[in-house]
Amino acid sequence: NLCGEKRTFEGSDLSAKLKLLGVDVASFGSIDPRQGAARSVVFEDPFAGVYRRLFFNAEGKRLLGGILVGDAEDYSTLRALVRSGGPLPAPPGSLAQGARPRADGKSVTATALADSATVCACHNVTKGQICAAIREKQLLRIEDVKASTRAGTGCGGCTPLVQDLLASELAAAGKLRRPPLCEHFAYTRQELLHIVKVKGYRTFDELLRSHGRGYGCEVCKPAVASILASLWNEPILDHATIQDTNDRFLANLQRGGLYSVVPRVPGGEITPEKLIVLGQVAKKYGLYTKITGGQRIDLFGAELPQLPDIWEELVAAGFESGHAYGKAMRTVKSCVGSTWCRFGVRDSVGFAIRVELRYRGIRAPHKIKAAVSGCIRECAEAQSKDFGLIATEKGWNLYVCGNGGAKPRHADLLASDLDEETAIRYVDRFLMYYIHTADPLTRTSVWLEKLEGGIEHLRDVVVHDRLGIAADLERQMQRLVETYQCEWTEVVRNPERRKWFRQFVNAQERQADIGLVEERGQKRPVDWPANASLPPPDELRLSTGHTLAEELANGNRRWVRVGRVEDFPPDGAAVILYGNTQIAVYRFASRGEWYATQNVCPHKRALVLSRGLLGDHGGVPTIACPLHKKLFALSTGRCFSGEPLAVATFPVSVRDGAVWLYLPPESVLDEALATERVALGRGAASA
Ligand code: SF4
Ligand code: FES
Repeated sequence: NLCGEKRTFEGSDLSAKLKLLGVDVASFGSIDPRQGAARSVVFEDPFAGVYRRLFFNAEGKRLLGGILVGDAEDYSTLRALVRSGGPLPAPPGSLAQGARPRADGKSVTATALADSATVCACHNVTKGQICAAIREKQLLRIEDVKASTRAGTGCGGCTPLVQDLLASELAAAGKLRRPPLCEHFAYTRQELLHIVKVKGYRTFDELLRSHGRGYGCEVCKPAVASILASLWNEPILDHATIQDTNDRFLANLQRGGLYSVVPRVPGGEITPEKLIVLGQVAKKYGLYTKITGGQRIDLFGAELPQLPDIWEELVAAGFESGHAYGKAMRTVKSCVGSTWCRFGVRDSVGFAIRVELRYRGIRAPHKIKAAVSGCIRECAEAQSKDFGLIATEKGWNLYVCGNGGAKPRHADLLASDLDEETAIRYVDRFLMYYIHTADPLTRTSVWLEKLEGGIEHLRDVVVHDRLGIAADLERQMQRLVETYQCEWTEVVRNPERRKWFRQFVNAQERQADIGLVEERGQKRPVDWPANASLPPPDELRLSTGHTLAEELANGNRRWVRVGRVEDFPPDGAAVILYGNTQIAVYRFASRGEWYATQNVCPHKRALVLSRGLLGDHGGVPTIACPLHKKLFALSTGRCFSGEPLAVATFPVSVRDGAVWLYLPPESVLDEALATERVALGRGAASA
């Protein structure tokens, strides 16, 4: 040859995979049926628009080439099989139909390839090199495999095969693709969702008993609560004690243990009468008001026991929960659109209201925000939302997976010029697919970044229904839509539910948990000082000369009756008032144990520990503070995060249905922990 070597040019690989008029088309290897004694197998599905013809040698033992139309998902694996000349991993007929991954996640074709088979033709990387890199460098993610081997970084056509190899290697090594949820469940959120769905579990306890261990924690409890809500849509307060504090009290916990109240204002449209009601309620309860980015009105500063009273008035005026507290569908923002705007081409407000009322309150792995703009000028900023609709001359453009906030992401266009019904169907599918497959606390933007195949895959699922699950996703969404209930309407009409909003189970009086200051004509909580933390009991020295820890260990104490068992929610907590000290009493029913600690979290002196989540870590029962999730051991009061924080603990006894605490005199405890001493902005603790 030209280089003086004894080699001849034998032609180049003309294999290719393309999209023609939106249809996947591929050809590879030898596709000339006249060549040699080749025999072909044809699979045709005119209903799905699929035609696949594969050529084999006369014995049907080797693949020579093929043509794929409408379904070319396994193009890269089949091409690698041709190049390797290796034995077939499945009978010719099965390959022609499209050999899919097995239930265990291993790909039929990927595992059957010879180690010498070239997987990435762009960079000449073999299966053996890829598998060795995964094993030796302990790679877990496709990005790392690509970076390490360069496979898949050229045309990208071999990426599915590289993914198959990664899955096979991880499965062989007994590793999961994604980390399990927490120490209590060796499953991902997606796997747990499928387990709950298939087994029909309705409670956290059922799932924990059958597929978990221990007693749960602040990670798995809210995640399972979200799964149960997404699948069955029962009132979330039926599972109150596995909810994060916001969902448990249907309001957003703010500094100092105060809450904010956000009624739903669909599409941001509100009548003057309703605006007046919001103003009157804010004035009556002394609430700070602010317009939110989602075109609603936020009322800040409500104390826990005020919440049902406030909502009673709001519900009577026709308001519903705005779900601002939930990892749920929140707002659909809109511009005024064609109703008022001279540029508008469609009624964005009307469509936004329809969309918001359809998806209101649906629980998801994270909060969901949406927007609708009346023309391409995009005043509602729909491309910075989880999904957004923008009016065009021909219909609506649907954008997905945008985000503002700390990690802004411009949304991707999923489909164009849709009529309203089709847009709704696509949003149904999109949201349910996200709910089914995302990790906990993952916004749609991050989910899409991690989704194998990215927006193309999402479009395949939502628009082209490649997985054949669209009808199922729509059915599931319709069920959620039809079973919607306003959570606050339910609470204000239910005396049993209202009971859990009491401040103290053993006293009618109320205490302010943080001081307020006036600013620009409204009240807000005092600032947190640079170091707001409360000393641990063994450093809190009292006028007796002893520390609080010493008084609790050796001082004068007596048993004090503080309530009945039913005053305390199973696997939850409630607060009792002793003198002027708040004590959280925990009924850890699933362990058959009771605990009591000071209610004030020493981190920022917030009187909120009773509103945290009970759990166990390494077998140690814990409470997670709802504000910043610091963990405290219930038996010792020690802080798990390693900071010099601790809470005082008190022995509990239950006799004849009554709950008793072993306590020092009120004056001793008050000197250390009385609310006016520990709460910021209230007397001794003023910043
Ligand atoms: S997006 Fe278009 S229709 Fe909506 S307010 Fe802006 S200019 Fe008007
Ligand atoms: S106040 Fe910050 S963790 Fe409790």
